[in-house]
Amino acid sequence: MKKIEAIIREKTLESVMKALKDAGINPITTYSVRGRGRQGGIVHRWAEGVEVYELLPHVKVEVVVPDELVDKVVDIIIKHARRGVPGDGKIFIIPVEEAVRIRTGERGHAALM
Ligand SMILES: Nc1ncnc2c1ncn2[C@@H]1O[C@H](COP(=O)(O)OP(=O)(O)OP(=O)(O)O)[C@@H](O)[C@H]1O
Ligand SMILES: [Mg+2]
Repeated sequence: MKKIEAIIREKTLESVMKALKDAGINPITTYSVRGRGRQGGIVHRWAEGVEVYELLPHVKVEVVVPDELVDKVVDIIIKHARRGVPGDGKIFIIPVEEAVRIRTGERGHAALM
């Protein structure tokens, strides 16, 4: 089992979620986050002066899937979250030791989808 954590643009969330659903992957957790990548925020220069944004808003998406679905999920996220410009986001893949469905007590893959 792996947890796929993707930090994506807010505007791409709907399309990523629809594509995951179309692929039969419904469970997902999302939350609003603020962060910065390697550019370290952005600087806006106006006639009146300079505004610095240290942290920019994105959405974090978490999906836990069996190992054999990892590539599929990553491909879907890339396809629907990529605009081809800095700030498109990032994907992290993290091992998950166990999952438990609280209602039934099912464990492992049976608890996931
Ligand atoms: N190494 C990291 N650790 C934690 N969070 C990260 C990391 N890299 C990116 N993020 C998060 O992802 C968001 C989007 O990152 P971003 O797409 O700007 O990455 P990048 O490495 O700067 O690539 P790019 O050059 O395409 O902009 C950041 O605002 C931050 O919240
Ligand atoms: Mg960046």
